[in-house]
Amino acid sequence: MKHRSGRVRLAGRLATARALGRPYTLSHLITSRCNARCETCLWRDGTSEEADAQTIAWLYREAARAGFAQLVVWGGEPLLRDDLGDVLAVAKRVGLYTTLISNGWLMAARWPELRGNVDALILSVDDVGVAHDRLRAMPGLYGRVGEFALSLQADPLAPLLLLNTVLSRQNLGALSRVAVVAKSWRAGLFFCPMETGQMQSTGFVESLSHLALTPEELSAAAREARRLGGEGYPILATGAYLDLLENDPGLAGYRCRAPHSLMTVGADGAVRDCRRHDQPIANVMELRASGQALSEALALPRRRELLAEADSCSACNNPDVIELSWLWDLRPVMLKKFVRLAAH
Ligand SMILES: C[S@@+](CC[C@H](N)C(=O)[O-])C[C@H]1O[C@@H](n2cnc3c(N)ncnc32)[C@H](O)[C@@H]1O
Ligand code: SF4
Repeated sequence: MKHRSGRVRLAGRLATARALGRPYTLSHLITSRCNARCETCLWRDGTSEEADAQTIAWLYREAARAGFAQLVVWGGEPLLRDDLGDVLAVAKRVGLYTTLISNGWLMAARWPELRGNVDALILSVDDVGVAHDRLRAMPGLYGRVGEFALSLQADPLAPLLLLNTVLSRQNLGALSRVAVVAKSWRAGLFFCPMETGQMQSTGFVESLSHLALTPEELSAAAREARRLGGEGYPILATGAYLDLLENDPGLAGYRCRAPHSLMTVGADGAVRDCRRHDQPIANVMELRASGQALSEALALPRRRELLAEADSCSACNNPDVIELSWLWDLRPVMLKKFVRLAAH
């Protein structure tokens, strides 16, 4: 109930952005530094220049002005930014519905300064106990995350709590173990088949393909998720996504709309091109320095080309991208999911 007004506002802003044909989700990789060493990770880098707090505050204000409804802050590990509390307070002031994704290592220590400015919190949990600690090379992590998650049950300003499990060859069968934990922590459970590479201007570089599930394993994971959902575990993927993963894991029948609905900004301020990670569409530091608005990046010719290219791209098989695409297409399954969440 306590999240309802935020979600109703989110629904209104989403509907407006969609009616105007504008993106509604700003995905911000706020740092590329990380304190963990997950083998699956494609985003940890730690070498790039990082935007300062003033530039980030500008980005969030501009995003709200351009009609974005939702901000997703991730990285790298966002809690490594000392100014995270300050910039999330700006996001709150301008009315963005803010989701924070973290490995949770520093969460208990940083929560007092973040509390009240996070609408939804996604904690990454890839398995239970020491298996999770090993996957992230962080002894004691699972214990810390569990203790923090349970502490939220007594917090009147607790955000919506969600867990995310990345499925790879390293944690086969983990979904059913994490589902039990998610239920006891009163958290919803997302899962993502791991992404294996990124598009560059020279083509798709599949650096982590050796860790990926086979199509048969993806189908089995979808069946397992459906069984768990049927037994009352808090699986958040839609039945439509599970059907797609089970019956068409190569995504032959799927059309991507993600660039219509999503803008991704890297730690260095790059407005990312998902089909050419090495060639950003624009840079927010340059936009700000030259007195341009963020919305001007939406009108650039390359972004328009990207919308057309996405139609035949199926590089991303995770539910965020696929369900965001279906939301753009106003598919009833997503509208129903949204109404259910807003009314919860
Ligand atoms: C890149 S992390 C950044 C935030 C934070 N450091 C964390 O681990 O939660 C965001 C999410 O991506 C997940 N992830 C890691 N490697 C992945 C991959 N190859 N494909 C899909 N998701 C992945 C993480 O487990 C996490 O839930
Ligand atoms: S904790 Fe997150 S950012 Fe860090 S290595 Fe793991 S997945 Fe990547």
